[in-house]
Amino acid sequence: MGFLASGSMRQDYWYPNSDINVREGRFMKAIVYTRYGSPDVLQLKDVEKPAPRDNEVLVRVRAASVNAYDWHFLTADISLIRVMGAGLLRPKNPRLGADVAGQIEAVGRNVSQLRPGDEVFGDLAGHGNGSFAEYVTASENAFALKPANLSFEEAAAVPMAAVTALQGLRNEGHIQPGQKVLINGASGGVGTYAVQLAKYFGAEVTAICSTGNVDQARSLGADHVIDYTREDFTRSGGRYDLILAANGYHSLAAYKRALAPGGVYVMAGGTAAQIFQAMLLGSLMSITGSRKMGGVSARPTQEDLVFMKGLLEAGKVVPVIDRRYPLRETAEALRYLGEGHARGKVVITVGDPV
Ligand SMILES: NC(=O)c1ccc[n+]([C@@H]2O[C@H](COP(=O)([O-])OP(=O)(O)OC[C@H]3O[C@@H](n4cnc5c(N)ncnc54)[C@H](OP(=O)(O)O)[C@@H]3O)[C@@H](O)[C@H]2O)c1
Repeated sequence: MGFLASGSMRQDYWYPNSDINVREGRFMKAIVYTRYGSPDVLQLKDVEKPAPRDNEVLVRVRAASVNAYDWHFLTADISLIRVMGAGLLRPKNPRLGADVAGQIEAVGRNVSQLRPGDEVFGDLAGHGNGSFAEYVTASENAFALKPANLSFEEAAAVPMAAVTALQGLRNEGHIQPGQKVLINGASGGVGTYAVQLAKYFGAEVTAICSTGNVDQARSLGADHVIDYTREDFTRSGGRYDLILAANGYHSLAAYKRALAPGGVYVMAGGTAAQIFQAMLLGSLMSITGSRKMGGVSARPTQEDLVFMKGLLEAGKVVPVIDRRYPLRETAEALRYLGEGHARGKVVITVGDPV
């Protein structure tokens, strides 16, 4: 991928004798970064528009959304990211952004499921990222058809957070109708989907959030809401069959205390301490007794995107969008997410709002 400074790009664009039509189609705007750091290191640049390989589609991005995943790649706050292939000293991939919704513009010769003009949504984690841009290419498997009743902005707010909640509750938590399910961090991206999905699966849902988000949790269907600024659910005697921890912090021992016999704890995220305790001690603490302590490492699949599309079209689940930012203000969007109190999802609009 070639990078151009905006200034030289302008000259190319307007040079009178250039093959201007070809050139106009060759470049696009994208958010890029060449060193780890705060959102200040992000730049909006003119870069070469990608071309799809044989098994890839070229998507005109209409909207993206930001996730803690992007924050980790931006800041390398979790040092593991560096050794796991993102780049030891500086990012290998200058492009950010996983969640995306847009329109297929071109397809590679081996693409069989999607056609130019199709409206899609997807998750580019594991497919090279890059949704904070006007165009992106990825394998067709990264996408599913966009829910027909959703705008591009709403669709972009779905993939990573919703699939994490789905895989946490269903694949790891083995959620069953009638179970008492608790969602800690119920007001963020993962949590707002988790509350709605747990209701869809027939559970009795307790949502944990701060005072200002109590009404939102109720409106998403939570049967009980506990304001964590007033009450510590791990000390109030409630016992749950399944706990999904999306945010905040409690020790593993405290979570275990809040599980009913046979109950399952699934860590999706939260403070670094919460994440590392679950990773390092979860299986050890599950050896004795009937309560299981584990985590979810979400793997985006087309199948789960299609599953979510069905629920969204049926109105069983709705995306909650807190704020929208234009592409050029992606740094602001990430800064807001990094403060840790987004209510639902933060969306990037590419081009006109849609
Ligand atoms: N395991 C995986 O595969 C996977 C995939 C995606 C995300 N994740 C992780 O999941 C976590 C949540 O992601 P997200 O998208 O939901 O994040 P998010 O949208 O940024 O979460 C923000 C929400 O967290 C709530 N929160 C903050 N402090 C809290 C506390 N002490 N107790 C309860 N809630 C609190 C805030 O509500 P208040 O303002 O009310 O406090 C806010 O609504 C992140 O750590 C992310 O890295 C993991």
